[in-house]
Amino acid sequence: MRPTGILGIGYAVPEEKLTNFDLEKMVDTSDEWITTRTGIKERRIAPRHEATSDWAVKAAEKALADAGVSPGEIDLLIVATATGDYQVPSTASIVQHRLGIPDTAAYDLGAGCSGFVYALDQAWHAVRSGGYNKALVIGADLLSRIVNWRDRSTCVLFGDGAGAVVVGETAPDYGVLATYLGSDGSGAESLIIPAGGSRKPFDEEALAAGEHYLRMTGNEVFKFAVRIMEDATREVLRRAGLTPDDIDLFVPHQANIRIIEAAAKRLGVEEDRIVVNVQRYGNTSAASIPIALGEAVEEGRLKEGHRIVAVGFGAGLTWGAAALRWGRGPAGGAP
Ligand code: UT7
Repeated sequence: MRPTGILGIGYAVPEEKLTNFDLEKMVDTSDEWITTRTGIKERRIAPRHEATSDWAVKAAEKALADAGVSPGEIDLLIVATATGDYQVPSTASIVQHRLGIPDTAAYDLGAGCSGFVYALDQAWHAVRSGGYNKALVIGADLLSRIVNWRDRSTCVLFGDGAGAVVVGETAPDYGVLATYLGSDGSGAESLIIPAGGSRKPFDEEALAAGEHYLRMTGNEVFKFAVRIMEDATREVLRRAGLTPDDIDLFVPHQANIRIIEAAAKRLGVEEDRIVVNVQRYGNTSAASIPIALGEAVEEGRLKEGHRIVAVGFGAGLTWGAAALRWGRGPAGGAP
């Protein structure tokens, strides 16, 4: 097995901000409620004419440039998304063509907000085993397209964005150290779009009932999230031979500040070791972890050699954690 990790990272978020005060004019809510219950102050919304692939491409171009890797070198492309451009074909195939990546394996991965960590795990296994050489992993979601803008219990929570990483060989002891993925389908209905699939094809009845929008039993997901963020982090650390004290930076899925703080407290990780940007972007689903990682690099908080844990949870219900030693290592890693 060859050491494999993240060679480059990029993210892209729309310019248009939707603030809590804007939402006060749209639904029966308040800045005070949203801030105290979630920590979110504003989120980004993509222009109407743009789709998830457009944002995936923007993030991917930055990640490729950061890695110094050309599209022609990519032999595996995974797009984690719950809001693909179409039901068919996959957004990955559209992104592949737009980026000029050769006719290689490209597919979408559906694990809700855990999608990026799932995709990173798949790319890590694929490259470290020698089956593939360089993978492009993208987490991209436009949640603004699937929330009901009249449902205050969901529309205040989400935002749009994309993040991407290039996965390839690193120096020994760098890159992904361990991963841990899981799913508990008994919670499938707590975060669901009821209509538009084979169970209930989209029709006039579904339209009238608003069943084509995202529905969530918020407090069920909340309880699950607090528990699983701690459990998944502890398990991935165990697999990596590390403890919470060894983590330089904890990069949790950005859904709710209360979930992040509760998990960090249980793990004994102090504020200065946690990446938080939920106040500016809301929950961007599969994009949230790569955006947080990208910002941490830009801000100089995440540096070569740092040991980090990225952990997410989402629809399924699913969870995923990855422990990494950041960077390529001495001499820029292997070719
Ligand atoms: O990536 C995974 C995606 N999902 C999540 O991460 C969601 C996890 N869950 C949560 O973050 C929280 O459960 C929420 C933020 C969604 C809700 O917070 P909560 O403390 O669990 O509130 P609640 O659902 O128990 O609702 C409390 C009250 C309700 O009113 P009543 O029934 O007590 O009168 C809601 O109707 O707050 C009301 N409410 C609102 N009020 C003002 C719900 N949404 C709003 C709103 N503004 N936007």
